[in-house]
Amino acid sequence: MILNSPRGTSDIFGSDIEYRNFIINNAKRLFSIFNYKELITPTFEHTQVFSRSIGDGTDIVQKEMYTFSDKKGRSLTLRPEGTASIVRAIIENKMYSGYLPVKVFYTGSMFRYERPQKGRMREFYQIGAEAVGTDNPIIDSEIIWLLETFFKNLGFKKLKLFINSMGCSRCRKEFVGKFKLFLEPKVDKLCTDCQKRYDLNPLRIFDCKKDNCINLISDSPKIYSSLCSDCKSHFKKVLYFLDALKIKYTVDSNLVRGFDYYTKTIFEFVSKDLQSAQNALGGGGRYDNLIQQFGGPDIPAIGFAVGVDRILMLMKQLNLEAGKEKDESKIYVIVLDGSCEEYSFDILKYLREKNYVCDLNYNIRALNSELKWAEKNGYDFAAIIGENEVKAGEVTIKDIKKRKQYKIKWDREKEKLDNLIRRAGDQANQAI
Ligand code: HAM
Repeated sequence: MILNSPRGTSDIFGSDIEYRNFIINNAKRLFSIFNYKELITPTFEHTQVFSRSIGDGTDIVQKEMYTFSDKKGRSLTLRPEGTASIVRAIIENKMYSGYLPVKVFYTGSMFRYERPQKGRMREFYQIGAEAVGTDNPIIDSEIIWLLETFFKNLGFKKLKLFINSMGCSRCRKEFVGKFKLFLEPKVDKLCTDCQKRYDLNPLRIFDCKKDNCINLISDSPKIYSSLCSDCKSHFKKVLYFLDALKIKYTVDSNLVRGFDYYTKTIFEFVSKDLQSAQNALGGGGRYDNLIQQFGGPDIPAIGFAVGVDRILMLMKQLNLEAGKEKDESKIYVIVLDGSCEEYSFDILKYLREKNYVCDLNYNIRALNSELKWAEKNGYDFAAIIGENEVKAGEVTIKDIKKRKQYKIKWDREKEKLDNLIRRAGDQANQAI
């Protein structure tokens, strides 16, 4: 019996790997420019790390966590998101005791037991960043600025940024009271999920995609009207800095996010081109109380995460390229006869010692098929070695892109090959 990967997971290979590395490397370059340092946390944590922070009433904690007991009966959970682990790590390692804010980033698999569909997986890959230790609205706009630049660098042109403020715990409490009062006469008309949310986590009703629920809350009070003067002024400053950075946004007073830890600024980048309900490429927000709730000092924080799988899917759908970061010429060594293998090894060894990207045809096929395959797979040069080349102590070099061919005396003229490859690389880099 052939075994398949578990539902909601996938194997990643071929061009998807190129896209994925391109996305991750782009993010890492930006993190370095914006001065975020990498922090790697375990893939699983004590269950409480998530249940305490994300919130008992959230869908994630209620239904979606991969929780298991280890052999000593301890409850552990595969991380459904990165923020809670980062907060745990910052507190445990007292990283807050030096310069603030602590600016960190992370990449890795997250796990949520959701119903899989296009763009929604049970294991998915996130890139995220957190800035812990300042409530200056500059950092809110900086985080959004980083994210906007990241999407632009990948080639996205039509993403929409939605932003809202959830207020601090005091304004939120006041708003939840007003909202529940507004909904009280309509509760039994809500969908069954929203009826449960009414008691457990009423703000999640704003996230319901069912038309009936959307209509029922269309004229509900808005959180902005409950914001205290501090939260209002904070939000205005964030928008002011976004304007200064010429970042376009839409204030969406119905925007809520699926975690209880958020306070003040929340935001999401959404693509209309992702037709499914899973159209959010990334999002985040402030969580000013979480560090203290975790037993750390009373310091505010903000962060975001993006979903690499969704970004990759959309890049392919929009024909955006996973461009080369710096051009590396690729050389394919084509052996035409088994008797030439030893000779070709000398060439391959030389190329690899020079750090060129190269490979060899392990199964000998007709030259034409090999050349076609090399072209299709992005090789720039073929180094062709047959019986004639071995006898003459030569290598035939084919510039696949320019469709030119050269002969090189191998022991005397190796540098000619270097010159050819370098020139091709320089030209490509100039073009970039
Ligand atoms: P989130 O909105 O749950 O936020 O996830 C961020 C991104 O991860 C989503 O926009 C989406 O692209 C991707 N994602 C989420 N669930 C799935 C899934 N099942 N399949 C594929 N992709 C998915 C967070 O995780 C917060 N920790 C963000 C944050 C950081 N807030 C503050 N700091």
